[in-house]
Amino acid sequence: MTRKIDIFDTTLRDGEQSPGASMNTEEKLVITRELLRMNVDVIEAGFPISSPGDFESVRKISQLVGYDAVVCALTRAIEKDILCAADALKFAKRPRIHTGIGVSESHLRDKLRITPDECVKRAVECVQCAKRYVDDVQFYAEDAGRSDYDFLVRVIQAVVDAGATVVNIPDTTGYSLPEEFGRRIKYLVDNVRGIEDVTIAVHCHNDLGMATALALAGVANGARQIECTINGLGERAGNTAMEEVVMAIKMHGEELDAHTEVNTREFVKASRLVSSITGMNVQANKSIVGANAFAHSSGIHQDGVLKKRDTYEIIDPADVGAGSSQIVLTARSGHAALKHRLEELGYEFEPQKLDEIYEAFLNLADKKKEVYDEDLESLVNERSREADALYSLESIQISCGFPLKPTATLTVRGPEGDPITVCDWGTGPVDAVYKAVDQVIGCQNDLLEYSVQSVTRGIDALGEVTVRVKAANGDIYTGRGADGDIIVSSTKAYLNALNRLLSDKR
Ligand code: KIV
Ligand code: ZN
Repeated sequence: MTRKIDIFDTTLRDGEQSPGASMNTEEKLVITRELLRMNVDVIEAGFPISSPGDFESVRKISQLVGYDAVVCALTRAIEKDILCAADALKFAKRPRIHTGIGVSESHLRDKLRITPDECVKRAVECVQCAKRYVDDVQFYAEDAGRSDYDFLVRVIQAVVDAGATVVNIPDTTGYSLPEEFGRRIKYLVDNVRGIEDVTIAVHCHNDLGMATALALAGVANGARQIECTINGLGERAGNTAMEEVVMAIKMHGEELDAHTEVNTREFVKASRLVSSITGMNVQANKSIVGANAFAHSSGIHQDGVLKKRDTYEIIDPADVGAGSSQIVLTARSGHAALKHRLEELGYEFEPQKLDEIYEAFLNLADKKKEVYDEDLESLVNERSREADALYSLESIQISCGFPLKPTATLTVRGPEGDPITVCDWGTGPVDAVYKAVDQVIGCQNDLLEYSVQSVTRGIDALGEVTVRVKAANGDIYTGRGADGDIIVSSTKAYLNALNRLLSDKR
C-alpha cells in the first residue's frame, strides 16, 4: 500500500487572498459542502482575526463540518490571533490551529526586524500557546523556500519539540525549483529528530508556474500533506491546484509511493462552483478542468482518439467529472426535483427561500426551455448577490444602433429604498449604462476588466458578465451578473462590484 497523502484545501483562506475573490459566509458554506463531497482531509476555513466576517465563517464552517474533516484556522505568531482562532473553532469536532512566522533572512531582517534567536523563541511560544487550546497544531515556516537550510532545521526542531503535530514548509514566493525544494524536504527528514512522528506539509505558490511540480517534489521526498486550492486560486499567481496535484498522484502513485482519498469525479463541478462564486474565470486550456482539457481539434489527434482514447488522452474525462451526463430541468420539473438537484450542487435553503428560487427557476425555464446545472448555479448566485446589495437594479432601458447615440435610462433602488432614475449616454450601450450607474453611486473606481461568457450552449443561453474594478485605495473587486440580456447582466455585474466595494468601505 502506498502512503496516504492528506489534502489540505485552502481555497477559503489563501484562495480568497486572490485580488477580487472575496466570498461571504454563505458562499463559503456552499464551497465547504463541495469540499466535503470531495472528501478532502483538512479545510482551512479562514483567518479569524482578519475580520468579523472571517471569524463568523470559521465558526459556521466548524459547525457544518462535524467529524468529516479537520477544520483549520490561520493565525500569526501573536497571542491575540491564537485566542481568536481558538474561539472561532469552538464548535469544531476536529479543530486545528495553523500558526507560524517568517524564517527567511528577508523576512527576519526586513519584515519582522528580529534576530534568528527571537524568531525561534516566537515560533516555540506560538505553538505552546496554540497547544493550550487544541491538540492539533500546525506550524508554518513562512518563506521557507528561500530560507537557510540549517536555520530551517533549527526552527522546525524547536516547534516539533514544542508539540507541533504538522510542520508546513511553504514556498511562499514560488521561487524554488522542484528538485531543490525536494532536497530541502529531504534535509528536514534527515536532520530533524522526531520528524517521523509529525506530518510534513508543503504549501507552494505558482509564481514560476511550478506550484504543482514543487508539491510533488515535496511528496517524493517525504511530505505527507499537500496544501492546495480549487482552480489553483490564491495570492498573486495562486497555489498548487488541487485537481492537478491529485490527478498527478493518481497517475504516478507507484513512483511517488502516494495516494489520496479525494473523490476526483467532483473536480469539474467544484471548479465551476468556485469560479462562479468568486468571479475568477478558468482559462480554457487549464489542465484537468479547463473547457478544452479534453477537446481534440487536430485531425491526427481526432483520428487517434477515435481509434483508441489513450493515444492522446491520459485521463478518462469521466474520472474528473467532465462531460458527464447533464441533468436538465424544465418548466415541468417540480419543486422536489429542483430541491434535489440544488442539494446535489451543494445548496441548501429554508422552505421560503426555496419557494422564491423556484419562482425564479420557472421564469428562467419559461424563457430557456432547458435549465442546466450552470444555469441553476448562476441563478442562485445571482440571488445571493442581490440579497446583500446596497444598490439594486429596478429597470434599464437602452437605445442604441447605427447611427444612434447609445443612451441608457436607469432606475436603481438605493440604501434608503427610494428609486433613483438617471439618463446618460456613452460610446456604446455598456458605457452608457456604466456612466448612468456612476451618476447614481458616485464611487470613484477604474474598470480593469469586462468580459462576457455564455453560461451554457445555445442562443438562448444566459450571458454572464464579469467585471473587475479598482477602488481609489487600490483594492480590487470582482462583480458578476447573469441574465438572458447581456446589457442587464452588464449592469448587474457593475452594481455587484460597486456594492462589494461600498460594503467594505462601510
Ligand atoms: O504562502 C504562505 O506562506 C502562506 C502561509 C500563511 C502558510 O500562505
Ligand atoms: Zn500561501
